[in-house]
Amino acid sequence: MSSNTPTTIHRLDYREYPFNIENVALHFDLHETSTRITSTLSVSSKENWPADLVLNGEDIRLVAVSINGKALGEHQYSLNEQTLVVPSLQGQFELSIVSECNPQENSTLMGLYVSGNSFFTQCEAEGFRRITFFPDRPDVMSTYTVTICADKARYPYLLSNGNLCASTDLPDGRHQATWEDPFRKPSYLFALVAGDFDIREKHATTQSGREVLLQVYSDKGSGHQTEWALESLENAMKWDEARFGLELDLDRFMIVAVRDFNMGAMENKGLNIFNAAYVLADPNTATDANYEGIESVIGHEYFHNWTGNRITCRDWFQLSLKEGLTVFRDQEFSADMMARNLDASAAASARAIKRIDDVTRLRTAQFPEDAGPMAHPIRPESYQEIANFYTATIYEKGAEVIRMQHTLLGEEGFRAGMDEYFSRHDGQAVTCDDFINVMESVYTQRNPGKDLSLFRNWYSQAGTPRVTVQLAYNEAQQRCSITLSQSCAPVGVEKLQNGFVKKPFHIPFSMGFISQSGQPLMLQFEGRPQTTVLLELIEESQTWHFDQISERPIPSLLRDFSAPVIVDYPWNQQELAILCAHDSNPFARWEAVQALSSNELLRIAALLAQGGQPELDPALLQVWQTNLTDPSLDAGYRAWLLTLPSEKVLAERMTPIEPVAIARARDFVREKLANGLLDLWQQTLGQNETPGRYSPDAISAGRRSLKNLALAYLLSIQNPSAIQAAFAQYQNASNMTDRLGALSALVSHYEGDERDEALAQFYEQWQHDPLVVDKWFALQANARHTNAQTILGLMAHPAFNLRNPNRARSLIFQFCINNTEGLHKSDGSGYAFWADQVIALDGINPEIAARLARVMDNWSRYAPALKAGMQQALKRVEAHPGLSKNVFEIVSKALN
Ligand code: ARG
Ligand code: ZN
Repeated sequence: MSSNTPTTIHRLDYREYPFNIENVALHFDLHETSTRITSTLSVSSKENWPADLVLNGEDIRLVAVSINGKALGEHQYSLNEQTLVVPSLQGQFELSIVSECNPQENSTLMGLYVSGNSFFTQCEAEGFRRITFFPDRPDVMSTYTVTICADKARYPYLLSNGNLCASTDLPDGRHQATWEDPFRKPSYLFALVAGDFDIREKHATTQSGREVLLQVYSDKGSGHQTEWALESLENAMKWDEARFGLELDLDRFMIVAVRDFNMGAMENKGLNIFNAAYVLADPNTATDANYEGIESVIGHEYFHNWTGNRITCRDWFQLSLKEGLTVFRDQEFSADMMARNLDASAAASARAIKRIDDVTRLRTAQFPEDAGPMAHPIRPESYQEIANFYTATIYEKGAEVIRMQHTLLGEEGFRAGMDEYFSRHDGQAVTCDDFINVMESVYTQRNPGKDLSLFRNWYSQAGTPRVTVQLAYNEAQQRCSITLSQSCAPVGVEKLQNGFVKKPFHIPFSMGFISQSGQPLMLQFEGRPQTTVLLELIEESQTWHFDQISERPIPSLLRDFSAPVIVDYPWNQQELAILCAHDSNPFARWEAVQALSSNELLRIAALLAQGGQPELDPALLQVWQTNLTDPSLDAGYRAWLLTLPSEKVLAERMTPIEPVAIARARDFVREKLANGLLDLWQQTLGQNETPGRYSPDAISAGRRSLKNLALAYLLSIQNPSAIQAAFAQYQNASNMTDRLGALSALVSHYEGDERDEALAQFYEQWQHDPLVVDKWFALQANARHTNAQTILGLMAHPAFNLRNPNRARSLIFQFCINNTEGLHKSDGSGYAFWADQVIALDGINPEIAARLARVMDNWSRYAPALKAGMQQALKRVEAHPGLSKNVFEIVSKALN
């Protein structure tokens, strides 16, 4: 945690490793404060001449090295903080290394660490080097044999990748287990777990008729909370067989839940390790959103077995090869699960909801990233610390880039491409170019004369392209012409490169026309009548003509968000209102509501920033009324239509950013909509109960989300009967979604004593469930009037623990990321708090600290007074002695 002189790693500097490591035999003698690891590597050189054998190693103590059984003296190798080098080796030999580490003291949660009463590992991206000396890079692939020895009473379960082949008792109350993974894998997929657990398991049969064992391990006493996880795992397995023909290749697939974890989960071969937040759920403790999150992360990690493990990355610049593709797969899995068992129209809106949710995540997290100092292409050109590149760009934009290929190839073509990808590259460590080469071969075969050469620019260029749309209507010719023009300003490092010229992107642009009376128009396009057409924009500007259009139509643009771009088109509020009520594409209809309300919110925010007195455009109220009462729409979709755009989405459209004015504008509009539609909101409350046994299905979850939205609107105006209803719902709820929905409405908008009573009671009731306590902290972090002082008070609560990432995220991150007014207090207290916490966390866990550091990424786009305070806080962090390279990379790039 110290080197302040950063080295930058460049993609183009890739060199092959000069040795093959066929097999790795690991022996672990587990003790909390000192674990001894013996690693025996079977090595052979790739070339006929000698090369230095370079092994990575960090924070571990070397005990002994030998080659073919002969110990090496200190003069026969060189050792520093990062590497162990044995010079000039050639041929075939066995290298044996003994080293020690201290899992108990490992607060970074990378490598081998203790959480609760158990041992866990996390190796991606560069954690294996904290366990043993090894060429810790994804293109070195080996088979592994792992023997684990530990105290039998404390650690009855000893797990690693692959198949259990032996277990025996040892003297002194210890025992050992040996695991063998038949598949070659890179070190980042290695895993080990030792501890005592509840286990839920199930035998399942794969499509080819093999029997497999699925298991979920969790803390003792939490076994009743793993039913949904196991069900999701089985669904994921079936889905990958049905949609991609991909089958589980192991006899046994294990998921283990851990309380201390840096991110969501990890796809270690056959032994996935998960943040407990993405495993444990029961109706009393988990919300609908938690259920959805669990299903999607379990799917994600399971799908990695093929997209990530069977075919892995050549180097970490290719990270999106596995992450973008696997996010695309988990998005499709969730959409299919949500639409399951529904009729066509309900299924379409369930899919639209999933798309809206994913696009919202992209806009709130990835668009700002792509416009800030950390902007990078989905295949970055350089990095200082790879842990900083597990970003929204690699994951979410990466998934959009895969989705565009799916759109261009069609479902069948994409599937043919995936089949070809596995037939060419199974068992290999490959690049993004390898993937697109495969997809292009299918595309070209099906579209003679066309290729994906321009499409590749999505991999090499950063930034969010802007597509400007012009519509020309010629009444005499009954012809409507659409001109699309694209532009994308240089961002991030692109701005620092001399003479950098951005090339156009290949943009699949889906659109339709709606008549003035709200009807979809049939268009003649590519020889057939269609209501939605796919335009392929490949030049800076292109025009398409549509004939037999009898009136000036309203364009419905970028349907289903067919490309990760920003659309510019000057709809007037009346045209938008028509789209808001009638667009036949449910995603585009939601977009129209977003556009209409964003225009209005930004107008009001600007007025408020100048001290003006706003009035609400009645068109907005009208749209809300229409959508609240449209009987053809199901509840969950209506909830999205009726939700105002978030502060972050609005901030992206404001220069300079006035965060408090945005928050106030949202308050103003929310209250007007609450008052103006009072009776309707009240009816909505009563009409969306979900009695009976809890089920997380899309329809029931949708009803709860609409009901809780109505509650939030009503509480924003302190409606007395709604306050009573919220208390009643809080007390009588039969599931956490309703309980938390009520409590959060109260905590955000109500100041009476009962609010504190409810909060105290909530803690009293759930203090023994860490995931619920996280919710309790998060509620308070987000509440109105919470400031840095309040958070410091909560940090003194006995349940707070800075070392537990979930807890730090629930309080500190929630406050810094979501509590606009608290963070941007004019006295600078929010910024000072942020700087203190980044520094404090950096001493414990640099990866987590660097995530918090990113809160200030876009400081320079804020209004002058705020900007100065943010810059000062950033400078204080940058000047802090002994900063990790993780945090250093983030703050130095922000200040650049
Ligand atoms: N491969 C994991 C996933 O996306 C994430 C690992 C992230 N590692 C890290 N140190 N941030 O499923
Ligand atoms: Zn992943």
